[in-house]
Amino acid sequence: MPSQQLASKPVDQLNEEEATSELARLAKEIAFHNERYHTEDAPLISDAEYDALRRRNLAIEQRFPGLVREDSPSKQVGAAVSEKFRKVVHAVPMGSLDNAFADQDVTDFVARVRRFLRLDGEKELAFTAEPKIDGLSLSLRYEHGRLVKAATRGDGQVGEDVTANARTVAEIPNVLSGDFPDILEVRGEVYMRTADFAELNRRNAKAGKQIFANPRNSAAGSLRQLDTSITASRPLRFFAYAWGEISKMPADTQMGMVEAFASYGFHTNPLMKLFTDVEGLLAHYHFIEENRATLGYDIDGVVYKVNRLDLQARLGYVSRTPRWAIAHKFPAEKAMTILNGIDIQVGRTGALTPVARLQPVTVGGVVVVNATLHNAEEIERLGVMIGDTVIVQRAGDVIPQILGYVPDKRPEDAKPFHFPTVCPCELKTPIVRDATAGGAEGVVRRCSGEFACPFQRIEHLRHFVSRRAFDIEGLGEKQIEFFFTDPDLPVKSPADIFTLARRDAENQIKLKEKDGYGDVSVGKLFAAIEDRRRIGLDRMIYSLGIRHVGERTAVTFARAYGNWQAFHDAALAIAGGDEHARAEMDALEDIGDAAIDAVARYFAEEHNRKLVEELAAEIDVIDAERPKTDSPVAGKTIVFTGALERMSRDEAKAMAEKLGAKVAGSVSKKTDLVVAGPGAGSKLKQATELGIEVIDENAWFERVGGAA
Ligand code: IVH
Repeated sequence: MPSQQLASKPVDQLNEEEATSELARLAKEIAFHNERYHTEDAPLISDAEYDALRRRNLAIEQRFPGLVREDSPSKQVGAAVSEKFRKVVHAVPMGSLDNAFADQDVTDFVARVRRFLRLDGEKELAFTAEPKIDGLSLSLRYEHGRLVKAATRGDGQVGEDVTANARTVAEIPNVLSGDFPDILEVRGEVYMRTADFAELNRRNAKAGKQIFANPRNSAAGSLRQLDTSITASRPLRFFAYAWGEISKMPADTQMGMVEAFASYGFHTNPLMKLFTDVEGLLAHYHFIEENRATLGYDIDGVVYKVNRLDLQARLGYVSRTPRWAIAHKFPAEKAMTILNGIDIQVGRTGALTPVARLQPVTVGGVVVVNATLHNAEEIERLGVMIGDTVIVQRAGDVIPQILGYVPDKRPEDAKPFHFPTVCPCELKTPIVRDATAGGAEGVVRRCSGEFACPFQRIEHLRHFVSRRAFDIEGLGEKQIEFFFTDPDLPVKSPADIFTLARRDAENQIKLKEKDGYGDVSVGKLFAAIEDRRRIGLDRMIYSLGIRHVGERTAVTFARAYGNWQAFHDAALAIAGGDEHARAEMDALEDIGDAAIDAVARYFAEEHNRKLVEELAAEIDVIDAERPKTDSPVAGKTIVFTGALERMSRDEAKAMAEKLGAKVAGSVSKKTDLVVAGPGAGSKLKQATELGIEVIDENAWFERVGGAA
């Protein structure tokens, strides 16, 4: 059959041979359009036509799972189409900021930076201070002065392509002015002024259209519109304050960069100022806080950044958070409401958390209906009863908290709350209390059912698909609940997610026939799942939901072990009591007994081992990125000992890790190099005995000088 005719033949009528040639054609065609779209920014087909190609590819793969090609578009990360927008892989990841709340946190931050850089008290160190705009961050890529791509932050690595929308925003230049670099990624915040937001809501209310909760939601909703004429009609604005890839840096300070952005035609914030001491930063913070209401746009704090870019580079990042910046948040907002009841929530680790059910109340522009009460002791400490009028506080994205109740408003029929003694799950397992380090009863009450407790299982699955874990589009909390109890396509463990499409193909009752699903949404869901068959090692480790293994620990493990097999082997060995494997994990920086014990406990469980194996069989774990593998110390295990004079211990460690080396806390046969300063003692002695190479700090800089 001629290929043209084959291309329009319904999938269910294709034979195996035809399916093979269709899959080959689609792989080529989709790759071609990806290239046109992502690299050349000149798509030849509409988004709908592109979607149709991918859907056809997927439908054929579902009918003929044995024919899935190595280069199948469904396996490619980042080329997937989200429900609405195509994805963009950021050339330089978009990070996020650490938070400071009290003045002391800012003092600590400045001291930390100074210590890291080994600056003595005399040396001047300048910081910028500027408002933290409460909008959504956007990365704008210009090539030869023309806007070629606009992408939202997404998960920091992959964002959504909103180029067509950004082009309609008046404050985002389509063409740059002045003396700009050839490649320039400007980053900043899209926001809406409060008056414009109120006016938009007023107009929308009159027309029976969507009402937004606050200017930030309104800005996000307005930018992410498939119909760009809607975006164009919304009063969006943009402040430039950061950057991604740049072919030639126009300045060597933060302030200089922002001034350069202004010269290219961007709006920059007029309240950005330079200071050389903590007092100056704090005074500016309080000034901005006092004048917050008069700015005309929402801000949620003040951001401080080290001004010199060479120092920023030395300070670097911890995960995706810069050491050279911090967000000083404004105090949380408060409101009063009624406590209607207290429910018990069972977490992933079985911990039981009392959750306050509140009469809905708006706190700082967001409607709050739940607040955490932490534990039974907290309820007792607060002295709250059901029916009380309580004070609720909300700070940033943190779960709202209850600060106390108003005694005068306590109704006569207020009821005390009694913490249950058995898990609210159907097993009614007894509740156990964690022991504290001293062996006393801790405050955390836990269901002893572990994986047999359906609440814990479902929480594990929720964690598994969460944004920082597998992040499967169209498979959020709600859908996990649906599949967990669905009789036709049950998902009881992570591997079940990856067999959904296969099982659905074999089932009599199809997912697309179920409430809330149709041809398109099922296709999208299965495509999103396919996209996640390839996953980074750190995400894989994090997604298992092992206690004490958060994102940072997962990154440390990923960097240290490099690939899934090595991590898995080590974890099994530790679970089996292998002291050597344990010592190796223990030598990793920032990994302590709590995490190691948790890994051991997790992998000692037959059930967990099976779960992990089944999952690993379904997916492809990408080896961890080893930064700078061509550096002279890449892959080497290094120990720093004694006093260092040109850099702090933290900086030495960060530098070595950036160059692909592993930094260990103690000397062993596995150590490749010891950098010893004055006063080095037992570690130096051990190194000499073991015949390990020892160099001093100057020799270290000579060795890595070009690479650092
Ligand atoms: S600097 C490496 N400056 O805050 C990150 N961020 O958690 C550098 N934001 O997602 C960001 N105003 O959307 C920076 N003046 C400002 C900001 C700002 C708002 C947002 C930004 C980012 C988040 C950081």
